[in-house]
Amino acid sequence: MKIIITKDYEEMSAKAFDVMKEVVVNKPDAVLGLATGTTPLGLYAKMAEDHKANGTSYKNIKTVNLDEYAGLGIESDQSYVYFMRENLFRHLDIDLANVNIENGLAKDPEAECARYNKLLETMVPDIQLLGLGSNGHIAFNEPGTSFDSVTHVVQLTESTIKDNSRLFDDISQVPRSAFTMGLANIMAAKKILILANGANKAKAVAAMAYGDVTENIPASILQKHPNCTLIVDEAAAALLPQA
Ligand code: F6R
Repeated sequence: MKIIITKDYEEMSAKAFDVMKEVVVNKPDAVLGLATGTTPLGLYAKMAEDHKANGTSYKNIKTVNLDEYAGLGIESDQSYVYFMRENLFRHLDIDLANVNIENGLAKDPEAECARYNKLLETMVPDIQLLGLGSNGHIAFNEPGTSFDSVTHVVQLTESTIKDNSRLFDDISQVPRSAFTMGLANIMAAKKILILANGANKAKAVAAMAYGDVTENIPASILQKHPNCTLIVDEAAAALLPQA
């Protein structure tokens, strides 16, 4: 795992943008694996700014998102499909027919997982962007998830519900389950870019990058990926040996 430590969130986002832009410019029909959450917002703002200022085109870019809350769809401003439209897609010239995310409203969750796994076989991300949960999760793969997992429905842990409740009016509104790509899907990406910032991620960052590769820290599997870059700010890097 290549590790880049930046002084702050702004610099983390700028360096992540450089990595993402290189993929988009070198391969105008690339598949981008995307994430939601607070971490990538700075990167997404830079992609939007750059598209506006320099015309970098996403016309033929395809995207696959990591996860979606069960029970939420585009009408809900807490859904991940809404988040992606609002924070990224509406600012780019991307064709919405080329963007993919699990359907949180699917009547048959098993069939929805099967559909998404099939799609991922034909759309292997050229780059997969990840944020890191404070409990070491990636996507919604909570501690204990099998490294062989593929897209599945997951019951969210109390720690993830608590972390995510900051984005809801009330903790009781946070969905208790979600669709998520599995760890085997994530590991299939050609390149992985994982971002983390803030002191509350420091323990998970150290465990992911230097701890044992264990299903108790799902992100630790990334140590085995041949092309993984971690960009982390100083606060989140505080417990790394070289920091
Ligand atoms: C989001 C996702 C999650 C987040 C993680 C960090 O699609 O899959 O794993 O990346 O929970 O969330 P933030 O960035 O809000 O700290």
